[in-house]
Amino acid sequence: MPESPLGGAKILPVRKAVFPAAGLGTRFLPATKAQPKEMLPLVDKPIIQYGVEESLESGLDNLIIVTGRGKNSIEDHFDVSFELERMLAEKGKTDLLAVVREISDLMHIAYVRQKEALGLGHAVLTAREFIGPEPFAVLLADDVIDAQVPVLRQMLEVYEATGHSVIAVEKVPAESISSYGVVKVEAWKPHGFRGPAYRVLDLVEKPKAADAPSDLAVVGRYILTPAVFDFLETTQRGTGGEIQLTDALRALAHREPIYAYQFQGRRYDAGDKLGFLQATVELALKRADLGGAFRQYLKSLPL
Ligand code: G1P
Repeated sequence: MPESPLGGAKILPVRKAVFPAAGLGTRFLPATKAQPKEMLPLVDKPIIQYGVEESLESGLDNLIIVTGRGKNSIEDHFDVSFELERMLAEKGKTDLLAVVREISDLMHIAYVRQKEALGLGHAVLTAREFIGPEPFAVLLADDVIDAQVPVLRQMLEVYEATGHSVIAVEKVPAESISSYGVVKVEAWKPHGFRGPAYRVLDLVEKPKAADAPSDLAVVGRYILTPAVFDFLETTQRGTGGEIQLTDALRALAHREPIYAYQFQGRRYDAGDKLGFLQATVELALKRADLGGAFRQYLKSLPL
């Protein structure tokens, strides 16, 4: 177990990551009428796979996916597909076989079903028995983040230095702040992290621009201490009639320190149509196998 350089106390390692994936995906209708939004492909991988890979690259290989009605294809995607593997093997398509095997080989995934869509806080609480008394990460698959060092890995550096919860934040313009949880922070002595880190004083879920306590919006990456579950148990329905993770974190912030970390990387809101298109174009341009031809094609368009 690593020694905390700040507090001197032993801190527990983070091993598990929760992926809330029970949402109805209404922002992406009609594509999400009969298909989970987490399975919409960005270039050639479903959205959720980007988050799963980020977890694995950050050293977290114990995943809990919170699903709901109509989400079976997520389980199928991360499961072994005997028929497909046999067909690829018989045809000698070893490259594709490796791609398909890699998806199911690398990690341990548990699925837990959120029976009612009562909000993000409720989804995280649903995973409680799989987490137990240890710190864990939460990844919202909609937020796809392209970064040299995976954002969860960046955040773990802050966690490993403090032993406390860490929330990823990003500056957003005033006109879009009301789509996010927003933090009120105070400056915090820098400790040589990759991006700025702050001490969280308060959080508000989706405030009006005039009421926002800062321009730092919560992005879908959290490292949380298990104390958050006690607050989730008693959190009442908030914004949108849902049990909000932000509200539980607000209560937690009054009991123990929480840090906000402004990550290095490019975030796409892949749950939004424009964000999805931006992610598709930019990620495709970065691909060694596609980027050149795709760039030429884009240049040929009469824009
Ligand atoms: C959720 C959180 C919000 C956060 C956002 C990040 O909102 O409730 O605090 O800022 O994710 O993507 P949602 O986008 O699910 O409405």
